[in-house]
Amino acid sequence: MKAMIVYSTKAGKTEKVAKAMGEQLGITPVNVIYKPIVSDIDVLFVGSGIYYGTVSEEIQLFLDTLRVDAAKKIVLFSTSQIGKDVLVELREELLDKGFAVSNKSFHCKGKFIYFNFGHPNAKDLRNAADFVKEITNG
Ligand SMILES: Cc1cc2nc3c(=O)[nH]c(=O)nc-3n(C[C@H](O)[C@H](O)[C@H](O)COP(=O)(O)O)c2cc1C
Repeated sequence: MKAMIVYSTKAGKTEKVAKAMGEQLGITPVNVIYKPIVSDIDVLFVGSGIYYGTVSEEIQLFLDTLRVDAAKKIVLFSTSQIGKDVLVELREELLDKGFAVSNKSFHCKGKFIYFNFGHPNAKDLRNAADFVKEITNG
């Protein structure tokens, strides 16, 4: 099973989550700014912080140019001040384009100004590792 993690971060919270996921899977997550080439991947984890109600421009561009056959399955994750509704919308958008997107996604709180202080915390990172374990075993 070949897994890959591509993420976008502005202040490091999503990167922390991506790294916890990568450690669990024994792979190094790739920051989207390095324009990763995705080919022949079984599970592609794609994560972003949420900014003004949506994922980063870089992740949007990455997904806009991703070939439908580059990965057998996409799994979304995010960190943000509030819920994961954005991922629900993004999943719908990707399904419409023909991607296979898992109905499971991972979200955890990310510190923002005075909110969610300390997040992602150790428990969030454990949850992230457990999540990828569950996805890749199942
Ligand atoms: C400019 C900016 C806009 C943001 N907009 C939202 C938002 O619309 N909804 C939300 O839930 N969180 C919002 N946040 C909070 C971030 O999603 C949260 O801090 C996230 O963990 C950032 O991830 P990062 O550290 O990987 O960039 C925003 C943060 C910034 C800096």
